[in-house]
Amino acid sequence: SGKMPKGHGMSDRLLRTRKILESVGQEHVLGFYENQDEVGKQNLLDQIASIDWSEAARLVETHVKHHVSFTLPETIEPAPWYPNVPTEDLKEQYQRARERGEELVGEGKVAVFTVAGGQGTRLDYNGPKGMFPATPITGTSLFACLAGYLRKVQEKFEAAVPWYIMTSPVNDADIRAFFEQNQYFELDPTMVIMFPQQMMPTFDATTAKVLLEAPGRLALSPNGHGGSLKALHTSGAIADMKRRGIEQISYTQVDNPLVHMIDPLFIGLHAIDGAQMSSKMLPKASPNEKVGVFCLLDGKVSVIEYSDLPNTLAEQRLENGQLRFRAGSIAIHLIHVDFVESLNSRRGHFALPFHRAEKIVPYVDFNSGKIVESKAPNAVKLEMFVFDALPLCATSIVYETARLDEFAPIKNACGADSPQTSRALQMERAARWLTTHGVRVPRDVEGKLNATIEIRPTTAICADDLRSVPLPVAIEPGGE
Ligand code: UTP
Repeated sequence: SGKMPKGHGMSDRLLRTRKILESVGQEHVLGFYENQDEVGKQNLLDQIASIDWSEAARLVETHVKHHVSFTLPETIEPAPWYPNVPTEDLKEQYQRARERGEELVGEGKVAVFTVAGGQGTRLDYNGPKGMFPATPITGTSLFACLAGYLRKVQEKFEAAVPWYIMTSPVNDADIRAFFEQNQYFELDPTMVIMFPQQMMPTFDATTAKVLLEAPGRLALSPNGHGGSLKALHTSGAIADMKRRGIEQISYTQVDNPLVHMIDPLFIGLHAIDGAQMSSKMLPKASPNEKVGVFCLLDGKVSVIEYSDLPNTLAEQRLENGQLRFRAGSIAIHLIHVDFVESLNSRRGHFALPFHRAEKIVPYVDFNSGKIVESKAPNAVKLEMFVFDALPLCATSIVYETARLDEFAPIKNACGADSPQTSRALQMERAARWLTTHGVRVPRDVEGKLNATIEIRPTTAICADDLRSVPLPVAIEPGGE
């Protein structure tokens, strides 16, 4: 077939593509194909080829044309958890767990995994969220904070800890360039493994047609953090982990500069209990805090989204006044490598369900070719959530962490969970660490911190690490 005239291969490909699209009622996405130049045509066909159209067709029926409503099961109980501070009868178990966790890390059997494929729409930052300057004094980026943490871990445990980072086709090139420019933040580049997650088409909410964001481009969005459990497999990351002898994956998000990417106690509790996937929780600050809650649904540890938890349950209190359903999910998990494999080797399709979200998405009008900006939600996006894997575990544990110790998320441009609140929380933790070593930290009469403090993760990732650091007697008030 070397004699085929030039361009023939392309029209073959076009025909094949059209056929697939026709079989699922989405051939309109080729409506402006002929108006594109050669590169544009190629890109459009590539984009179409990246989509699993039979999956899309199935989801149109189940999730776009219809709403899958969440029904609360008959029995719903709070999930049990390991408390942050061990009770007397747990002390020995915690000691053993910490040692086991340290052993696993020291033997190089634990990898850290950061999901960074999200669009970060709420933060409204011009770039991948991981590049956002997060710290109060040096304006260190989220990626650099995490990298610093990892360097400190490798130094403390004298162990190799590979770092897997899930990007998306949208931010992958920017993230790779950022790591290159910063010489991988002094990490060994062969130990930093990036791979993009898959994208999903965006559908018109009334017609269920796939939307175009430009005449020659589909409107696609990342398939949710749950897509990480699929992409780990399809990208070859799991195979790479197996080659390196990795057994456990420490899963965290890109948007929390205080997160403990490696927590030996949590690792040990999870490993000794033989759990497939485990979670950290924080007691909810109030009944309406917008976090999912760990429950037992039909006996299985599950996360119920805050919008799905009935008010009557959210507000239920125990005799001591504490919320009955208070174990809030903060998206920190430990996942056994074999569990990821099992999710991907079930017959049929990948094990996690999709969730429907209605969004405002600008789109190309199929008749005029012009961009239309809708005022009300006009589109359906489909996403998978990582915590949907929990009920598929035979064993799953929950461990309570301390809010001030590892939770300073950056989600919104301002208000709650914003760069401002995150910086304040970072400084508060630093202040408490300094205080434990006798350093005087200036506070006003209400106890509010009156200083600007930052402790680099390469200096300390826990209060104890400051023991070997020369510290001042007191911190100067003010700053900024
Ligand atoms: P969020 O759910 O907070 O979403 O992601 P987001 O994309 O960061 O921000 P918004 O909602 O658009 O404002 C939690 C974590 O999951 C990752 C994010 O990068 C973040 O670390 N994530 C989310 C993915 O990796 N892929 C996705 O498809 C969605």
